[in-house]
Amino acid sequence: MAARELRYLLAAVAFSLAGAACNGGVTPSGDDTVVGDDDTTTTGDEWDQRLDERVVDYSAALRIAALRLTGELPTLVEIKAVGDAPEAQKQSVYESLLRGYLDDPRFARQMVAWWKDTLKMGGTTMSDSAAAFAAEVTVEGRPYTDLLTASAGTCPSYDAGAGTFTPGDCDNGVPVHAGLLSHPGMNAAFYSNMAFRRVRWVQEIFACTAFPAEIVSEPQDLGGNALYSAPWPFDSIASPATGGNVDFLDLSAVACANCHATMNHIAPLFTNFDDNGDLQATSQVMVPIEGTPLAQLSDYLPAGQTTAWRLGAPAADLPALGAAMAADPAIAECAVARVWNWALGKGDIVDTLATIPSDVIADQVATFRSNGAVLKDAIFAVFTADDFVKF
Ligand code: HEC
Repeated sequence: MAARELRYLLAAVAFSLAGAACNGGVTPSGDDTVVGDDDTTTTGDEWDQRLDERVVDYSAALRIAALRLTGELPTLVEIKAVGDAPEAQKQSVYESLLRGYLDDPRFARQMVAWWKDTLKMGGTTMSDSAAAFAAEVTVEGRPYTDLLTASAGTCPSYDAGAGTFTPGDCDNGVPVHAGLLSHPGMNAAFYSNMAFRRVRWVQEIFACTAFPAEIVSEPQDLGGNALYSAPWPFDSIASPATGGNVDFLDLSAVACANCHATMNHIAPLFTNFDDNGDLQATSQVMVPIEGTPLAQLSDYLPAGQTTAWRLGAPAADLPALGAAMAADPAIAECAVARVWNWALGKGDIVDTLATIPSDVIADQVATFRSNGAVLKDAIFAVFTADDFVKF
């Protein structure tokens, strides 16, 4: 098992070294030297050699694929089908079994469980319907971006016995839905002061990184104790000077604005959902100061600033936020990276920092984006990739 993860690891090391160089960090001397996390030093040539030593083993791949995609071991007939196939035909036998798994009702069950895990939701009817919606989109081969943009059918139910989805619309007062962004289950589960936990969920689940989300290569010294590293104009978020209740321009210990420049341009889109996830006409979230006033737009942004997904990607409402996210290549990359981590049995990409360097999956991300962002196709691509079938 260790050998098949070498390429992944090697690339991760190269990536972190490149990152260190950008930040002015030190890189080890010696051009072709990489440092593993086990305190040994290995030359690039040796890594390559060990990677080249891996061989395709469709029988071993089948076992893992069956467990992931159906929750069960392959049947004896399936094992023999791959095992007994002539060498030249093993790949096509393996691939046809894989397609069968992806069309099996057990795949729906696996996806419902995977999405509960991935979305960090489940346990209530409404939370379960968020995972069911994501699973339905996946199983039916619909675009992944429906999770951010679907205007109807976002509250289906899942019948575990039959392995089927029953379509359903959410009924939480939202005029135009935007996939999971306007979902009552999500908005209830991540209710918090100033709606920042919902914003964090959106970032971590769909962009695969914690805040800060936007970082310039050369942070600015604005005279405080911390450097400012977001690309937004520093005064584009609120402070008491602009009528806000919180000083997001504080630089005395950390630069709040490094994270909040992005967060404050998103959060106002989520303030009117109450703790049941129902949309109300006015703000439902509090500012954590004495008297806990309800957060107003002026608590996030100075007059003249408008909501946005990122600098240069304005979003006037949740459907616009969903559309801006769907157009962001980082969202597609995150989806493919999550499939890889699942296939290789790694934990959550944000919590465990099990990140995958962009260049390792660049081709798959490009294919995913140009073929309608169908996650089921990305799953097939990952489970048939060299890095999955070689050991
Ligand atoms: C590294 C990124 C980052 C920095 C820096 C940062 N925040 Fe936040 N802040 C967050 C995130 C993420 C949350 C949401 C946390 C959650 O609820 O899970 C949050 C939540 C909050 C909340 C709501 C807390 C609550 O009671 O739920 C306030 C208020 C806030 N931040 C103000 C500030 C201020 C003021 C500063 C500077 C002193 C600051 N933040 C610095 C990322 C950051």
